[in-house]
Amino acid sequence: MFKKEINTIAILLLISMMGCNLKPEVNELGLVPLPKSISLSDHKTTITDQWDIQHNGGHDDLETLSSEISTALATNYNLSLSGGSSRSIFLNVESGLAKEGYEITISDDEINISGSTPNGVFYGIQTLYQLLDSGEASDSGIDLNHLTITDEPRFKWRGMHLDVGRHFFDVSFVKKYIDYLALHKMNVFHWHLTEDQGWRVEIDAYPKLTEISAFRDESLIGHYRDKPRQWDGKKYGGYYSKEDMAEVVAYAQSKYITVVPEIEMPGHTRAVLAAYPELSCTGGPHTVAKLWGVHKEVFCAGKEETFQFLETVLTEVAEIFPGPYIHIGGDECPKDRWKEHDLDQQRIQAEGLKDEHELQSYFIKRIEGVLDRLGKNLIGWDEILEGGLAPDAIVQSWRGMDGGIAAANAGHEVIMSPTSHAYFDYYQSEDKENEPLAIGGFLSLEKVYEFDPVPPGIDPEKEHFILGGQGNVWTEYISTPEKVEYMAIPRMSAMAEVLWSREQDRDYESFTSRMDWQYKRFDRMKVSYRKPN
Ligand code: ACM
Repeated sequence: MFKKEINTIAILLLISMMGCNLKPEVNELGLVPLPKSISLSDHKTTITDQWDIQHNGGHDDLETLSSEISTALATNYNLSLSGGSSRSIFLNVESGLAKEGYEITISDDEINISGSTPNGVFYGIQTLYQLLDSGEASDSGIDLNHLTITDEPRFKWRGMHLDVGRHFFDVSFVKKYIDYLALHKMNVFHWHLTEDQGWRVEIDAYPKLTEISAFRDESLIGHYRDKPRQWDGKKYGGYYSKEDMAEVVAYAQSKYITVVPEIEMPGHTRAVLAAYPELSCTGGPHTVAKLWGVHKEVFCAGKEETFQFLETVLTEVAEIFPGPYIHIGGDECPKDRWKEHDLDQQRIQAEGLKDEHELQSYFIKRIEGVLDRLGKNLIGWDEILEGGLAPDAIVQSWRGMDGGIAAANAGHEVIMSPTSHAYFDYYQSEDKENEPLAIGGFLSLEKVYEFDPVPPGIDPEKEHFILGGQGNVWTEYISTPEKVEYMAIPRMSAMAEVLWSREQDRDYESFTSRMDWQYKRFDRMKVSYRKPN
């Protein structure tokens, strides 16, 4: 009796998260990324098999989300909800909450998850799963604290990239990778689909792209820098059929993730030129590259055939990927061939261009015209700033953040993914001998956590042009799904918190403490992540 009174009087141990002094009770909930605000009570409710799942009919997706919860609770939490107790998980889509945000309240007889859009509800459901992980399980069910969480992301673009050009990863792994994004409330999958060493997209109009460009004769053994170089002698490649890509797009959509296809141009295109040498400056012959690095053979910017080819390819790509963006690469395009080739020089003359950088800018601007007609927004790596930015281009800053700063100040949208904080192909420890072979560099989990996508130098009134950021996984030295997981995770968790949570709540100690739960989730998902030291 007395105890009960104490409970009712002293119940509301409200923990409001101000600044970065998170209470241990909050850390113990194991939430990654950290929500915006948590009010936690020491009262508990027990979710049991007698609960059910209901929704307010605010959106068609709520029915699907309800059945997904039911499956997940049975699979991961040993809870087969069958009703009978008038206690419910209740999903609502209703106006009034932040864009992409959600609110979750847990009381004695209800777990209420509300969002103004279904993706907000989806994020609330991910939080519920994390609370169930850290809740106390018993024979009757799982104890959860009464609480209210109000949450919304800091950035609109919370992305992860995967290079499937250097090494090919099949649809089943790509879907797993998308699961990892969903776990982290990320919403963009940047699919780097074409490279010098392999083209991965089926295009009906150009069958040689999958017959020839999708395969290289052999692959390098060891590091690019090792001399003499050794080769494995094995033909290597693969590609995605249109059905494969439709499957990935639908899967990503079910997790509220936009797929951004990247079709590289004018550089990183040797695989295309091997099949269609007439699109190069020299006319070929060319081979699909087997060596990593930057190659001099690039699309000819003087020939109209190049633009006809790309328009046809991009039209098919736009049909496969319903999202609003197409990434056209634009990085690392050597100008050697353009300097030597009369048609490129004639183009420079005819268009009144100053040099080959302006020729690249002319190239990208023409492609932007194509994408405009297809109703897509163009994204390019920061080299697209050189020679003049296409009018509506979105810039992805990778060679540091200067390109992103310049683009934002010029009124362009920006995705920040600098090598310094976002290149997950870099080593994760300075003790490189004891790490699997990587491209180089060193990027620790803590350094990723320190990433600020809005660096000094951006005019305060231009900060809104920073859409967000992204972790990039280049795969020259990553040939298996297990190694992708090892390189991407847990750095993906740090990136997710940078992109979702409030800057003033950033606290590495709290993060690593909450990550203890995240590692258990990775174990359950059988992820080959890098274990913390
Ligand atoms: C890049 O890493 N070349 C964008």
